[in-house]
Amino acid sequence: MAVTDRFLNVALPKGRLGEMVYAMFAAAGYPCPALLENSRRLIFENPGAGIRYFWVKPSDVAIYVERGAADVGVAGKDILLEYDPEIYELLDLHTGICRMAVAAPKGFRDDTRRPLRVATKFRRIAERYYASLGREIDIIHLNGSIEIAPILGLSDVIVDIVETGTTLRENDLEVVETIVPVSARLIANKASFKFKTPEIESLLAGLSGQGKEN
Ligand code: PRP
Repeated sequence: MAVTDRFLNVALPKGRLGEMVYAMFAAAGYPCPALLENSRRLIFENPGAGIRYFWVKPSDVAIYVERGAADVGVAGKDILLEYDPEIYELLDLHTGICRMAVAAPKGFRDDTRRPLRVATKFRRIAERYYASLGREIDIIHLNGSIEIAPILGLSDVIVDIVETGTTLRENDLEVVETIVPVSARLIANKASFKFKTPEIESLLAGLSGQGKEN
Protein backbone atom coordinates (compact mmCIF):
# COMPACT_ATOMS: atom_id res chain seq x y z
CA MET A 1 0.00 0.00 0.00
CA ALA A 2 1.51 3.35 -0.99
CA VAL A 3 1.68 5.78 1.89
CA THR A 4 2.09 8.90 -0.22
CA ASP A 5 -1.47 10.29 -0.33
CA ARG A 6 -3.23 12.84 1.85
CA PHE A 7 -4.24 10.28 4.41
CA LEU A 8 -2.83 11.01 7.79
CA ASN A 9 -0.93 7.83 8.70
CA VAL A 10 -0.98 7.08 12.40
CA ALA A 11 1.09 4.46 14.24
CA LEU A 12 -0.74 3.37 17.39
CA PRO A 13 0.80 1.21 20.14
CA LYS A 14 -0.91 -2.17 20.06
CA GLY A 15 -2.57 -3.01 23.39
CA ARG A 16 -4.55 -1.35 26.13
CA LEU A 17 -2.83 2.05 25.82
CA GLY A 18 -3.44 2.04 22.06
CA GLU A 19 -7.14 1.37 22.57
CA MET A 20 -7.40 4.26 25.03
CA VAL A 21 -5.54 6.54 22.68
CA TYR A 22 -7.73 5.47 19.73
CA ALA A 23 -10.79 6.55 21.76
CA MET A 24 -9.20 10.02 22.00
CA PHE A 25 -8.57 10.10 18.24
CA ALA A 26 -12.19 9.01 17.60
CA ALA A 27 -13.48 11.75 19.94
CA ALA A 28 -11.27 14.23 18.06
CA GLY A 29 -13.15 13.41 14.81
CA TYR A 30 -11.04 10.54 13.45
CA PRO A 31 -13.14 7.41 14.05
CA CYS A 32 -12.41 4.08 12.42
CA PRO A 33 -14.61 1.53 14.23
CA ALA A 34 -13.14 -1.44 12.33
CA LEU A 35 -9.98 -0.89 14.36
CA LEU A 36 -11.56 -2.38 17.46
CA GLU A 37 -12.97 -5.47 15.70
CA ASN A 38 -11.45 -8.66 16.89
CA SER A 39 -9.29 -9.38 13.86
CA ARG A 40 -5.63 -9.81 13.10
CA ARG A 41 -5.52 -6.98 10.60
CA LEU A 42 -2.95 -4.32 11.39
CA ILE A 43 -3.89 -1.50 8.98
CA PHE A 44 -7.27 0.27 8.99
CA GLU A 45 -8.49 3.34 7.18
CA ASN A 46 -11.41 5.72 7.13
CA PRO A 47 -11.21 7.65 3.85
CA GLY A 48 -14.03 9.97 4.97
CA ALA A 49 -11.98 11.13 7.94
CA GLY A 50 -8.71 11.02 5.93
CA ILE A 51 -7.08 8.75 8.46
CA ARG A 52 -5.17 5.47 8.30
CA TYR A 53 -4.16 3.64 11.47
CA PHE A 54 -1.47 0.98 11.97
CA TRP A 55 -1.16 -1.16 15.09
CA VAL A 56 2.52 -1.57 15.91
CA LYS A 57 4.56 -2.80 18.86
CA PRO A 58 4.68 0.10 21.37
CA SER A 59 8.47 0.26 21.36
CA ASP A 60 8.45 0.47 17.52
CA VAL A 61 6.10 3.46 17.11
CA ALA A 62 8.96 5.99 17.15
CA ILE A 63 10.80 4.05 14.42
CA TYR A 64 7.80 4.19 12.07
CA VAL A 65 7.41 7.90 12.72
CA GLU A 66 11.11 8.76 12.53
CA ARG A 67 11.43 7.05 9.14
CA GLY A 68 8.18 8.50 7.78
CA ALA A 69 6.22 5.24 7.43
CA ALA A 70 3.77 7.00 9.75
CA ASP A 71 3.16 10.76 9.85
CA VAL A 72 2.28 10.72 13.52
CA GLY A 73 2.16 8.21 16.33
CA VAL A 74 1.77 7.74 20.03
CA ALA A 75 4.76 6.68 22.09
CA GLY A 76 5.58 6.59 25.80
CA LYS A 77 8.04 9.19 27.06
CA ASP A 78 10.15 6.23 28.27
CA ILE A 79 10.70 5.10 24.67
CA LEU A 80 11.48 8.65 23.53
CA LEU A 81 14.07 9.09 26.29
CA GLU A 82 15.62 5.71 25.62
CA TYR A 83 15.90 5.88 21.82
CA ASP A 84 16.05 9.66 21.33
CA PRO A 85 14.41 9.49 17.87
CA GLU A 86 14.57 12.42 15.41
CA ILE A 87 10.88 13.37 15.66
CA TYR A 88 8.77 16.24 16.94
CA GLU A 89 7.08 15.67 20.27
CA LEU A 90 3.80 17.55 19.85
CA LEU A 91 1.57 16.83 22.82
CA ASP A 92 1.42 15.17 26.22
CA LEU A 93 -1.75 13.06 26.03
CA HIS A 94 -1.92 12.73 29.85
CA THR A 95 -2.69 9.06 29.59
CA GLY A 96 -0.57 5.94 30.04
CA ILE A 97 0.78 7.64 33.15
CA CYS A 98 3.51 5.83 35.05
CA ARG A 99 7.10 6.51 36.13
CA MET A 100 10.60 5.25 35.48
CA ALA A 101 12.08 4.20 38.78
CA VAL A 102 14.92 2.44 40.52
CA ALA A 103 13.64 -0.46 42.61
CA ALA A 104 15.37 -2.90 44.92
CA PRO A 105 14.65 -5.62 47.48
CA LYS A 106 13.27 -4.16 50.72
CA GLY A 107 16.04 -2.85 53.00
CA PHE A 108 18.54 -2.48 50.16
CA ARG A 109 21.72 -0.51 50.99
CA ASP A 110 24.06 0.58 48.20
CA ASP A 111 27.63 -0.66 48.69
CA THR A 112 29.53 2.20 47.06
CA ARG A 113 32.86 0.33 47.15
CA ARG A 114 31.86 -1.58 44.02
CA PRO A 115 29.89 -0.88 40.82
CA LEU A 116 26.12 -1.11 41.25
CA ARG A 117 24.64 -3.92 39.16
CA VAL A 118 21.56 -2.53 37.37
CA ALA A 119 19.17 -4.77 35.41
CA THR A 120 16.99 -2.95 32.88
CA LYS A 121 15.41 -2.80 29.45
CA PHE A 122 16.22 0.93 29.46
CA ARG A 123 19.99 1.00 29.16
CA ARG A 124 20.40 4.65 28.14
CA ILE A 125 17.99 6.01 30.74
CA ALA A 126 19.80 4.04 33.45
CA GLU A 127 23.26 5.05 32.18
CA ARG A 128 22.34 8.74 32.02
CA TYR A 129 20.72 8.67 35.45
CA TYR A 130 23.69 7.09 37.21
CA ALA A 131 26.18 9.22 35.25
CA SER A 132 24.35 12.27 36.63
CA LEU A 133 24.93 10.90 40.13
CA GLY A 134 28.55 10.00 39.38
CA ARG A 135 27.81 6.39 40.40
CA GLU A 136 29.67 3.63 38.57
CA ILE A 137 27.35 0.87 37.34
CA ASP A 138 27.41 -2.48 35.62
CA ILE A 139 24.42 -2.64 33.25
CA ILE A 140 22.65 -5.96 32.76
CA HIS A 141 20.43 -5.54 29.72
CA LEU A 142 17.31 -7.74 29.86
CA ASN A 143 14.21 -7.89 27.68
CA GLY A 144 11.50 -8.54 30.27
CA SER A 145 10.64 -9.92 33.72
CA ILE A 146 13.22 -7.48 35.05
CA GLU A 147 11.82 -7.82 38.58
CA ILE A 148 13.31 -11.26 39.12
CA ALA A 149 16.90 -10.12 38.49
CA PRO A 150 17.57 -8.87 42.06
CA ILE A 151 15.66 -11.78 43.57
CA LEU A 152 17.96 -14.24 41.82
CA GLY A 153 21.08 -12.21 42.62
CA LEU A 154 21.64 -11.24 38.99
CA SER A 155 21.53 -7.53 39.87
CA ASP A 156 21.42 -5.22 42.92
CA VAL A 157 18.64 -2.98 41.59
CA ILE A 158 16.37 -2.60 38.56
CA VAL A 159 15.41 0.41 36.48
CA ASP A 160 11.92 -0.14 35.13
CA ILE A 161 8.43 1.23 34.59
CA VAL A 162 6.21 1.35 37.67
CA GLU A 163 2.52 1.95 37.13
CA THR A 164 0.39 0.64 40.01
CA GLY A 165 3.36 -0.83 41.92
CA THR A 166 1.71 -4.25 42.01
CA THR A 167 4.52 -6.06 40.19
CA LEU A 168 7.08 -4.68 42.64
CA ARG A 169 4.96 -5.52 45.70
CA GLU A 170 4.27 -9.05 44.57
CA ASN A 171 8.00 -9.61 44.12
CA ASP A 172 9.05 -8.01 47.46
CA LEU A 173 10.69 -5.03 45.80
CA GLU A 174 10.20 -1.33 46.51
CA VAL A 175 10.91 1.94 44.75
CA VAL A 176 14.21 3.49 45.83
CA GLU A 177 14.07 6.56 43.59
CA THR A 178 11.85 7.95 40.83
CA ILE A 179 13.91 8.88 37.78
CA VAL A 180 11.28 10.52 35.58
CA PRO A 181 7.48 10.63 35.15
CA VAL A 182 6.21 8.95 31.98
CA SER A 183 3.08 9.45 29.87
CA ALA A 184 1.97 8.93 26.27
CA ARG A 185 3.05 11.58 23.76
CA LEU A 186 1.80 12.47 20.28
CA ILE A 187 4.85 12.54 18.00
CA ALA A 188 5.26 13.56 14.36
CA ASN A 189 7.64 12.88 11.51
CA LYS A 190 9.59 16.07 10.76
CA ALA A 191 8.92 16.11 6.99
CA SER A 192 5.24 15.21 7.47
CA PHE A 193 4.87 18.09 9.88
CA LYS A 194 6.07 20.39 7.12
CA PHE A 195 4.06 18.90 4.26
CA LYS A 196 0.86 17.94 6.11
CA THR A 197 0.73 20.90 8.46
CA PRO A 198 -3.06 21.53 8.20
CA GLU A 199 -3.91 17.84 8.76
CA ILE A 200 -1.57 17.55 11.74
CA GLU A 201 -2.68 20.88 13.22
CA SER A 202 -6.37 19.78 13.09
CA LEU A 203 -5.53 16.49 14.78
CA LEU A 204 -3.56 18.36 17.42
CA ALA A 205 -6.46 20.74 18.03
CA GLY A 206 -8.88 17.80 18.42
CA LEU A 207 -6.62 16.02 20.89
CA SER A 208 -5.55 19.03 22.95
CA GLY A 209 -7.31 19.21 26.27
CA GLN A 210 -8.41 15.56 26.17
CA GLY A 211 -6.99 12.92 28.49
CA LYS A 212 -6.45 15.07 31.58
CA GLU A 213 -9.20 13.24 33.42
CA ASN A 214 -7.78 9.78 32.55
C1 PRP B 1 5.70 -3.00 32.90
C2 PRP B 1 6.93 -3.03 33.78
C3 PRP B 1 6.47 -3.77 34.99
C4 PRP B 1 4.98 -3.49 35.05
C5 PRP B 1 4.70 -2.46 36.10
O1 PRP B 1 5.65 -4.14 32.13
O2 PRP B 1 8.02 -3.65 33.13
O3 PRP B 1 6.73 -5.14 34.88
O4 PRP B 1 4.59 -2.96 33.78
O5 PRP B 1 3.32 -2.24 36.26
P1 PRP B 1 2.67 -2.21 37.70
O6 PRP B 1 3.45 -1.23 38.54
O7 PRP B 1 1.26 -1.73 37.45
O8 PRP B 1 2.69 -3.59 38.27
P2 PRP B 1 4.65 -4.25 30.90
O9 PRP B 1 3.34 -4.76 31.36
O10 PRP B 1 4.63 -2.97 30.15
O11 PRP B 1 5.30 -5.39 30.01
P3 PRP B 1 6.79 -5.67 29.63
O12 PRP B 1 7.27 -6.65 30.64
O13 PRP B 1 6.71 -6.23 28.25
O14 PRP B 1 7.54 -4.37 29.70
